[in-house]
Amino acid sequence: MTHGIALVGCGSAVPAASVSNALLSERVDTNDEWIRTRTGIGARRVSGPDEPLTVLAARAAEAALAHAGWSAEDLDLILLATSSPDDLFGTAPRVQAAIGANRSVAFDLTAACSGFLFALITAGQYLATGAMTRALVIGADQLSRWVDWDDRRTCVLFGDAAAAVAVEACPAESTGLLGFRMRSDGSRNGCLTLAQTAEHAPLLADLTAQRGGFAPIQMNGQEVYKFAVREVPAILAELLDATGTRADQLDWLLLHQANQRILDAVADRFQVPHGRVLSNLAHYGNTSAATIPLMLDEAVKDGRVQPGHLLASSGFGAGLSWGGALLRWSGPQG
Ligand code: COA
Repeated sequence: MTHGIALVGCGSAVPAASVSNALLSERVDTNDEWIRTRTGIGARRVSGPDEPLTVLAARAAEAALAHAGWSAEDLDLILLATSSPDDLFGTAPRVQAAIGANRSVAFDLTAACSGFLFALITAGQYLATGAMTRALVIGADQLSRWVDWDDRRTCVLFGDAAAAVAVEACPAESTGLLGFRMRSDGSRNGCLTLAQTAEHAPLLADLTAQRGGFAPIQMNGQEVYKFAVREVPAILAELLDATGTRADQLDWLLLHQANQRILDAVADRFQVPHGRVLSNLAHYGNTSAATIPLMLDEAVKDGRVQPGHLLASSGFGAGLSWGGALLRWSGPQG
């Protein structure tokens, strides 16, 4: 690897409609107290008819470009992490066209709630080898399409959002991606799925053909919870060890926003004060691939995350998949 990777801009976009726990309890048998104490979630955004994924992702992309001081033609790569595409053939090209990033290649990457972290690491490899110079990594999901709104065990958790980070090649010694780890365990896939419904319809005399469609999200909440509180600390400990980093050197924990109790458990494991654990669960819930860049954007824009700050990040979720990255925020390069 000859180059490093600098994180130089970020942006986000959320749907206009916010659904509070109290409002949701008008639809499904739940209540604000249960949701807040078990998850930390207070509200979630739900996309309207004029807010398809492409529109939110393009708005987030444009905000990140503006923050970085780039024009869309500067981009070599757009990587869109999503599990809820507008088009199963790929939504990234639609985003590319919407923002006018004519020179870039654009494609989707699917790894559920680990998607943004996996995409950031993947984009980083093209920059590190010198194959590309500037990339936009977008995390965008609309799980409101895929939850069963009558299943209180899942529908209260998820919301919609899009967010993006601009990354560019830089000298190796000033890299903002100091280390990473990625893992998958497909043997536990059944814990959390948004699976195809395998319907077959007659095609010819002796032949049927599949009819496309997906079942709503199915989740074993307790298994996913146990997975997260075991694997996230383990992979972060491995990462800190490999990079020679002490937990007290971290400015922030930037974790996938799934449940406040998971954030607190990870913080306690590393004795990181809860004030240094970024959380916006109260406002947005779990926005899947969007949580990490959405949280980063909020904390950069309100001044909590400053240039030079060190962040330990972890994404985890369906697959099962999980990963960690040690990041240094650069901010716009003037
Ligand atoms: N409102 C009110 N009651 C609810 C409820 C809701 N939204 N959801 C579940 N309950 C009830 C259950 O029916 C159950 O009642 P019972 O004991 O009478 O049967 C009770 O609350 C406890 O349910 P349980 O599923 O054991 O709760 P829990 O403490 O495990 O919390 C989760 C459930 C989903 C909050 C928790 O398991 C979790 O956060 N898991 C991780 C999920 C996650 O993060 N997924 C995404 C990963 S990317």
